[in-house]
Amino acid sequence: MNKSFKYIISPEISEFRKFSPKLKIGVLASGKGTNFQELINLSEKGALDIEIKVLVTNKDDAGCIKRAEKVQIPFKIIKDKDFPQKELFELEIINTLINHEVELVVMAGWMKIVTPFFINKFKKKIINIHPSLLPAYKGGSAIKDSILNGSKITGCSVHYVEEEVDSGSLIMQAALSILSEDNIETLSKKIQILEHKILPHSISHAGFSIRSNFMESY
Ligand code: GAR
Repeated sequence: MNKSFKYIISPEISEFRKFSPKLKIGVLASGKGTNFQELINLSEKGALDIEIKVLVTNKDDAGCIKRAEKVQIPFKIIKDKDFPQKELFELEIINTLINHEVELVVMAGWMKIVTPFFINKFKKKIINIHPSLLPAYKGGSAIKDSILNGSKITGCSVHYVEEEVDSGSLIMQAALSILSEDNIETLSKKIQILEHKILPHSISHAGFSIRSNFMESY
């Protein structure tokens, strides 16, 4: 794949905000964890002032687990099927995040819909990355759907998680062309390159807003 494809990011990328002490984040991920890895890399380089307090995954074999183990980030596997009710499953996640004193919850490939019960515990403190230009192509097969629909442009979005799925207020988006030779694999790779750019900047933006509100309350 040609890595030098054209894209547009909005708002334009600027410097990361400084956080002292570092912004405490919890990551929810169900998959490979390439976005999670990017956050690890930026944090280790000292480029992004975050402390990844905990990874929560709902899959025993998720790739993100190995990435957490490698750098000794605490992780917890929490599976919905181990709980009689969805609320209890979410309560376990909520308690894990609270016990790790997380300020911002980052859904980086979290493939479970969260209920208002969960969202209300972390109002305006949960962000999600999605592989489409929302509100187009919500749901779990966004990349495939964009190709099948013959879209010419797609991308990725980071948004606050609000009650309606994939509909919260947008923080950042990146767009690129879908070429005639693209397939799910090539397009996914290109979109992920853009995701790795916009997720850290969206964390910086959301973190700044959380810290500012915190200051205002004093
Ligand atoms: C990302 O492409 C993200 O946009 C998508 O899962 C992938 C996770 O990749 N999320 C969704 O589809 C949420 N609806 P990663 O595990 O390599 O970070």
